[in-house]
Amino acid sequence: MKKDLVLGGLVLLSLWLISGIQAVKRFQDVRFHGKQSNDQGHHSQIRGWSPDRNTWDEQLYPAWKAGDARWENCWRGGKVEALLTSDSPALIGSNITFAVTLRFPRCQKENDDGDIVYDRKCRNDSFSYQDQYVYNWTKWVDDCNEGNCTFINKFPDGRPFPPHPDWRRRNFVYIFQTLDQFYSLTGRSSAVLSINTTNITAGTQMMEVSVYRRDHRRHYPVAKASAMYIVTEQIPLYVNISQKNDRNSSDKIFIKDSPITFDVKLHDPSHYLAKAAVSFNWTFGDGSGSFVSNNPLSSHTYTLLGNFSLNLTVKAAIPGPCKPVTPTTFIPTTYTSSTTTAPVTSNSTGNSTDLPFTETAFVTTEGSNVTTAPTTETTTHIQTTPAAGCFIDRYGYYKANIRIVGNVKATIAMVSCIKTLPMKD
Ligand SMILES: *[C@@H]1O[C@H](CO)[C@@H](O)[C@H](O)[C@H]1NC(C)=O
Ligand SMILES: *[C@@H]1O[C@H](CO)[C@@H](O)[C@H](O)[C@H]1NC(C)=O
Ligand SMILES: *[C@@H]1O[C@H](CO)[C@@H](O)[C@H](O)[C@H]1NC(C)=O
Ligand SMILES: *[C@@H]1O[C@H](CO)[C@@H](O)[C@H](O)[C@H]1NC(C)=O
Ligand SMILES: *[C@@H]1O[C@H](CO)[C@@H](O)[C@H](O)[C@H]1NC(C)=O
Ligand SMILES: *[C@@H]1O[C@H](CO)[C@@H](O)[C@H](O)[C@H]1NC(C)=O
Ligand SMILES: *[C@@H]1O[C@H](CO)[C@@H](O)[C@H](O)[C@H]1NC(C)=O
Ligand SMILES: *[C@@H]1O[C@H](CO)[C@@H](O)[C@H](O)[C@H]1NC(C)=O
Ligand SMILES: *[C@@H]1O[C@H](CO)[C@@H](O)[C@H](O)[C@H]1NC(C)=O
Ligand SMILES: *[C@@H]1O[C@H](CO)[C@@H](O)[C@H](O)[C@H]1NC(C)=O
Ligand SMILES: *[C@@H]1O[C@H](CO)[C@@H](O)[C@H](O)[C@H]1NC(C)=O
Ligand SMILES: *[C@@H]1O[C@H](CO)[C@@H](O)[C@H](O)[C@H]1NC(C)=O
Repeated sequence: MKKDLVLGGLVLLSLWLISGIQAVKRFQDVRFHGKQSNDQGHHSQIRGWSPDRNTWDEQLYPAWKAGDARWENCWRGGKVEALLTSDSPALIGSNITFAVTLRFPRCQKENDDGDIVYDRKCRNDSFSYQDQYVYNWTKWVDDCNEGNCTFINKFPDGRPFPPHPDWRRRNFVYIFQTLDQFYSLTGRSSAVLSINTTNITAGTQMMEVSVYRRDHRRHYPVAKASAMYIVTEQIPLYVNISQKNDRNSSDKIFIKDSPITFDVKLHDPSHYLAKAAVSFNWTFGDGSGSFVSNNPLSSHTYTLLGNFSLNLTVKAAIPGPCKPVTPTTFIPTTYTSSTTTAPVTSNSTGNSTDLPFTETAFVTTEGSNVTTAPTTETTTHIQTTPAAGCFIDRYGYYKANIRIVGNVKATIAMVSCIKTLPMKD
């Protein structure tokens, strides 16, 4: 009898030990999509991030798998949705920015104190409010001394929440995970995070975010979200091809003997290329050779009918730290005002008219409410004597097939135009 008890005790003890060992959770174990199958093993460290081999305190931060029944009741009055977006694709070396926004159940909102309340505007006859608030964190503020609370105030890896002037309103914990690393922060009902992509290998990656709400003894899962993002070695760009009097610009059909405008828009939300010297090398495919310009806006007139394949190579010489390799020399070319629609010829012989490349061309002129002041970049631009600096060269490519047709329809349109409006020529 006694033996059995001892044996049973041993079995229980070993079971407890095994479960104890299993209970050691790591960040990599709590990922929504599990371990990434295409793991290449080692990823370079992102500045400020930590490896996901670090342990995750499951007592403070319960980790639930997708489909766990507890997700159903983790929030009062419905389900919270987390929306994760990014400004992908990102050129290597630029910043990629992620934004998470929480969407609360109908009639709930975050108030100025960072508490979640029922929206009064939403009140209707068939719905009575038992509580004014959904989650009231303000009532705990007395337990905290300038953000030092008597209850738990830590991230899953045990690191204390960083001091923040707005600490009393930051009632959500966001844990970002990508490339076998994690980053945690506290925030309100939305959070923004930027990563410098210098150390990230080009390709498609997955970002995951887990959101928790604060509570006294432990934090509770609220929502999870994931999103793909792209890091690329080529400058992401878009070209807007337009022609005057063209009804349908998307069909890539244009008329002969009338200038076509090519407007190159570089996707550079983190202004990584703001200080770069950018040149645009066009080949229009009609035997007119190549055409190099520092202006994102170019114009070309086709004088032949038919199909043409055109090519653009964008080169950005980004000022960067010098490495003990031969630096690429950069020959500055004339910058012509971006407001002109006339073709721009390169002039690398003169040096009097050199103007810095500014962001002007990326600001849409349609929206009159432009708050960014691109002209302020001017003073910090690289000089016309680049020999002293070193550059990282990045390229972007664009190809298109366009069709040039006779201007019969245009003539008709012009005729009717002349009838109604007196025109010169
Ligand atoms: C890139 O990696 C190096 C070496 O690991 C590190 O010192 C540097 O801070 C990292 N840079 C960024 C922008 O992540
Ligand atoms: C990213 O880090 C690199 C190296 O530290 C730096 O040259 C680059 O300007 C940074 N990018 C941004 C957008 O801050
Ligand atoms: C009133 O609110 C309840 C609960 O939010 C909702 O189910 C119902 O559809 C609402 N009625 C009207 C008329 O908006
Ligand atoms: C939250 O609690 C505090 C203190 O108990 C109270 O003063 C405040 O009105 C509450 N907020 C809401 C939105 O109910
Ligand atoms: C918070 O607590 C830590 C140690 O418990 C202490 O070093 C720090 O000064 C405190 N900060 C404030 C703002 O009270
Ligand atoms: C790029 O992101 C880093 C954080 O990784 C941040 O410190 C830096 O200010 C950001 N730079 C720009 C230009 O947004
Ligand atoms: C393309 O350029 C034309 C002419 O400048 C302009 O009307 C149109 O809005 C532009 N389209 C886009 C998507 O930028
Ligand atoms: C522009 O591209 C053409 C071929 O696409 C090339 O022959 C020419 O050298 C390029 N010009 C410059 C200045 O890079
Ligand atoms: C466009 O560029 C590619 C190489 O990038 C080249 O093979 C092709 O011939 C070019 N087309 C024209 C019309 O110049
Ligand atoms: C290039 O610049 C020089 C000196 O400023 C000037 O004399 C010449 O006319 C320019 N050439 C073109 C094609 O603009
Ligand atoms: C180019 O600049 C140098 C020094 O700034 C000046 O001596 C020279 O005359 C300039 N050349 C032209 C063609 O303007
Ligand atoms: C510009 O936008 C801001 C906020 O987006 C707004 O407050 C301001 O009134 C706008 N100004 C104009 C001139 O439209």
